[in-house]
Amino acid sequence: MEFRTIIEPFRIHSVEPLRLTTVAERETAIRAAGYNLFALRSVDVLIDLLTDSGTGAMSRDQWAGVQRGDESYAGSPSWFRFLESVQDLFPFRHVIPTHQGRAAEKILFTAIGGPGRVIPNNTHFDTTRANVEFTGAEAVDLVIAEGLDPASEHPFKGNMDVQRLDALLTARARDVPVVFVTVTNNSGGGQPVSLANLRAVREVCDRHGVPLFLDACRFAENAWFIREREPEQAGRDVRDIVRDMAALADGMTMSAKKDGLANIGGWLALDDDALAEACRNLLILTEGFPTYGGLAGRDLEAIAQGLREVVDHDYLHYRIRSTAYLGEALLADGVPVVRPIGGHAVYLDARALLPHVPALQYPGQSPAVALYEAGGIRSCEIGTVMFGLRPDGTEQPAALDLVRLAIPRRTYTQSHIDYVIEVCREVAGRAATLRGMRIVEAPRALRHFTARFEPL
Ligand code: F0G
Repeated sequence: MEFRTIIEPFRIHSVEPLRLTTVAERETAIRAAGYNLFALRSVDVLIDLLTDSGTGAMSRDQWAGVQRGDESYAGSPSWFRFLESVQDLFPFRHVIPTHQGRAAEKILFTAIGGPGRVIPNNTHFDTTRANVEFTGAEAVDLVIAEGLDPASEHPFKGNMDVQRLDALLTARARDVPVVFVTVTNNSGGGQPVSLANLRAVREVCDRHGVPLFLDACRFAENAWFIREREPEQAGRDVRDIVRDMAALADGMTMSAKKDGLANIGGWLALDDDALAEACRNLLILTEGFPTYGGLAGRDLEAIAQGLREVVDHDYLHYRIRSTAYLGEALLADGVPVVRPIGGHAVYLDARALLPHVPALQYPGQSPAVALYEAGGIRSCEIGTVMFGLRPDGTEQPAALDLVRLAIPRRTYTQSHIDYVIEVCREVAGRAATLRGMRIVEAPRALRHFTARFEPL
């Protein structure tokens, strides 16, 4: 137990080939993609750190579950195994299965959003914000000030600013149908929320009579950070911490593509009977019958098993330490990254890396392109490209300009990550020569997925 090397707590059972390409091939591919990494063919990518969503490896027991999947239209045993697994951690009265997280968001915000409504969150992720705004409601981010300072070492930079939440609810509680807390805070660096902060948020919500929901995508990683960093919670079983988080909330939206350890899936869970009925009616319109939602029986099985595996301490120790391994190596090389290192990703601080590029020239986009050209690494801008376009069509700098290196779960080995470190070091070493970008074509919402760019 005293050895330093973090080993992957699994061995490889089935392999997928990676295709090596040359710098010249990648330059051609990214130019054809309009310098948008989402537009690449994944066979042209060597190490794919675009997202940790649905890109992880499933376990032997999850694949066994896929075989056991029962595809009965209604009341399948796979549904009951899924339900039991979800409610073991999140004992909400109603569980509504969806094909992924955003479908749960779409259903919930269709039911409770609308013009004049305001939804506070520590930080909305892109699809969450888009689903709120699509109903005409306003999405407000209320993360603590430290959460917007990439260099702050605060242990829970995902925490909600409880005073600002209280002020908002004092002024407008009747316009706020729900308060959301995202665990971990993806857009803000994969930073956790403490149990103490969740309790304080709950207290404010109770005082104003507003329900609290979790955007729980990375709940297990968040619970591990609580165990590691919140002195009163040290050494507890992660399952119990997750149950404590759930007990503080009235409901949740979930993408099983993250801490469900599955390739697809999600759910909406809640206690309110009337709201659950309204949501189930929408589910039947857009997703499917309430015992499968948007999923096949085999997907429900993979999630049911994934939820058992994700709270395993050996897995979480490896997961969080191996993300930190990448982040700490970059810090040691002087590459500016968001600190402390988050759970599912390492975030390069593009404003610190490219101080010569103004926010409206997207300082996150050109290093993301450079990492691809140099080493075939696909990352994701999380900054002004993703969040800079307001619903009224004007543009303003996002709170942060980051490049996210998201780590798929149980997928890459330490030597893959050592290669990533080398490529990052090389690109960071010539950051002063990287130029900004211009958008030449983009849709009005969620532009980062399809925009085309040109180097300036
Ligand atoms: N909430 C958060 C915090 C997320 O990170 C995501 C997805 C969603 C909701 C939506 O879930 O993809 O299943 O519809 N995040 C992915 C990412 C896409 O790359 O971070 P979904």
